[in-house]
Amino acid sequence: MPAFIEAASPHQMNTYGRVPIALSHGKGVRVWDVNGKCYLDALAGIAVNTLGHAHPKLVPALQDQVAKLIHSSNYYHVPNGEKLAAKLVALSGMTNVFFCSTGLEANEAALKLARKFGHDKGIARPEVVVYDKAFHGRSIATLSATGNAKVQAGFGPLVEGFIRVPVNDIAALKRATEGNPNVVAVFMEAIQGEGGVNPMHMDYLRDVRALCDERDWLFMIDEVQCGMGRTGKWFAHQWAGILPDVMPLAKGLGSGVPIGAVVAGPKAANIFQPGNHGTTFGGNPLAMRAGVETIRIMEEDGLLANAARVGAHLKAALEREFGGLRGVKEVRGHGLMLGVELERPCGVLVARCAEAGLLISVTADTVIRIVPPLILSEAEADEIMALLVPQVRAFLAETA
Ligand SMILES: Cc1ncc(COP(=O)(O)O)c(C=O)c1O
Repeated sequence: MPAFIEAASPHQMNTYGRVPIALSHGKGVRVWDVNGKCYLDALAGIAVNTLGHAHPKLVPALQDQVAKLIHSSNYYHVPNGEKLAAKLVALSGMTNVFFCSTGLEANEAALKLARKFGHDKGIARPEVVVYDKAFHGRSIATLSATGNAKVQAGFGPLVEGFIRVPVNDIAALKRATEGNPNVVAVFMEAIQGEGGVNPMHMDYLRDVRALCDERDWLFMIDEVQCGMGRTGKWFAHQWAGILPDVMPLAKGLGSGVPIGAVVAGPKAANIFQPGNHGTTFGGNPLAMRAGVETIRIMEEDGLLANAARVGAHLKAALEREFGGLRGVKEVRGHGLMLGVELERPCGVLVARCAEAGLLISVTADTVIRIVPPLILSEAEADEIMALLVPQVRAFLAETA
């Protein structure tokens, strides 16, 4: 460990167990640390750096924007905000957008929409259906919606008004909401990210859509991690051929510039009225330019098709290497959102893979998560495998 990288940061709050690396710059799917060591980036800043690092089309656009206007406030119109909203509406088939700066903020807005949807219908104590293993953020409301006791520990009392159900079980959802007039929305990730890369089944998504229509509930799909092309479609729920009523976005939308958005369909688009919601940084000129340019470059460079093709190549390789191996439970995920679940906690693999020159994460204690930039090539996917396989095999052998 270089002397100037502290084991803990003495002046920052002790919130992260950091790997002892400080990154200095990147290019494509590679990053370099301050000592000049190169890493293949299969984490992309936790599913954020859609275009990889220092993308030759994104860099000049952002430089141009920084030199013109970074922030102006929501007192004034931001032309690229309207452009980005129109683009998200076209890509999603929905109707209106609210911009913020992070995933939890997008989810807070979604939860406020759900509650006001209920109040507007005369429901004084609205309830929202959420899921086991869900992750929606770390504000008080979003951690209450999150299905992970570790995230909630120490922060009670939690926000009330949530009903928790298991994933992919329509009968359980019906049972949990039976005869309850206070239910206003179902809120889920199309593929749970932090919970261990757990995809919702296509049939389940369609069944929930039908149930929400039947009961006049909002169907709210958190696409913060699985959206923006990661699975090979703009939004992961599109594989099921359905439309949500509310869709929070963030992470990959700005390719690294902080940005969040809530996209709403007709049932939710007019719930907020002036004064109901707002944020200082949301919709600022720099973030809006990043969103507009990210989508433009994704379209120009065919990155949806690339995510689908390279993702399928990488998943097949993971299945070939790890499928049926003792100590491995399952390989799962879609596109470039992939997980390998082991039978035991494997957090040590993060530092070991980094040492070997590969950045990954381990989520839900036992799941190796691979969420690289969407520009990844098949050859680079093969490089990920070449670095990952020996580390996983050694770990499994040691802990057998
Ligand atoms: C599905 C999902 N929703 C919300 C969030 C929270 O986003 P943020 O960390 O930007 O607040 C995350 C972050 O990992 C996420 O994966």
